[in-house]
Amino acid sequence: MHLTPQDHLFVLTGAGISAESGLATFRGSGGLWNGYRVEEVATPEAWAADPTLVWHFYSQRRRNAISAQPNAAHIALAQLEEQLGDRFYLCTQNVDDLHERAGSERIHHMHGSLFQSRCTRCNQPFPDVALYEVAEALPICAKCSAPVRPHIVWFGEIPLDMDTIYRKLDCASILLVVGTSGSVYPAAGFVHIANQRRVHTVYVGPEDPLNREAFDEILLGNATEILPSLIREDKLKNPTHYF
Ligand code: APR
Repeated sequence: MHLTPQDHLFVLTGAGISAESGLATFRGSGGLWNGYRVEEVATPEAWAADPTLVWHFYSQRRRNAISAQPNAAHIALAQLEEQLGDRFYLCTQNVDDLHERAGSERIHHMHGSLFQSRCTRCNQPFPDVALYEVAEALPICAKCSAPVRPHIVWFGEIPLDMDTIYRKLDCASILLVVGTSGSVYPAAGFVHIANQRRVHTVYVGPEDPLNREAFDEILLGNATEILPSLIREDKLKNPTHYF
């Protein structure tokens, strides 16, 4: 695979890129949290049935993400962005902030952010790093007293700002997908959109994703091994450099 000075790179990341920072993936290790399937605590139905359980889940994820550090793969993508500028766009399904802490700027969190909450009535997201782990301490809106929820896109909800994502996909010439199992749509369908436009598609991860057959290239391995090799100085100096 090669990247020329004319290329526009669209990167999609999933939980796998943060795995080596110590954050569990969803479908690895049985996909369980405290005996619950992730799908059971990340839905509007779960919120309606037991908001304390849902906040307990996201508080624990906040705590884990705060103590995690960006790894070499996050850093490699931030360095690639430095080289490519506006020809780089990062769409992540992850709700942690490790990409930002590695230096990424042109980034969109399509599934929301662990460090934002929003009022269920006003709907305006705001920064929030607090932990809410007991029923008596669940947050309510300072303006209207409605319950405050995590600013996370749950199963059955529509990912954030799909218009921008599709616009960016439309002008991409290379799609690089890292560490996502290809099981959750619409993200798992980005590669099919790229196929229709004959955009070159590359997957990086230790095992084949479910949508494996849609990729032109599969680079099997951990993100921290493979991504840093994409940005080696000597390759970027050439007008046509190879991943
Ligand atoms: N480097 C790269 N990839 C890795 C690594 C690693 N070190 N370790 C694991 N992986 C890969 C796994 O092989 C797997 O394909 O990461 C992928 C993780 O898949 P999932 O757990 O399904 O996570 P993801 O695809 O991001 O889930 C999508 O589902 O639960 C919802 O909203 C949640 O954003 C999430 C979405």
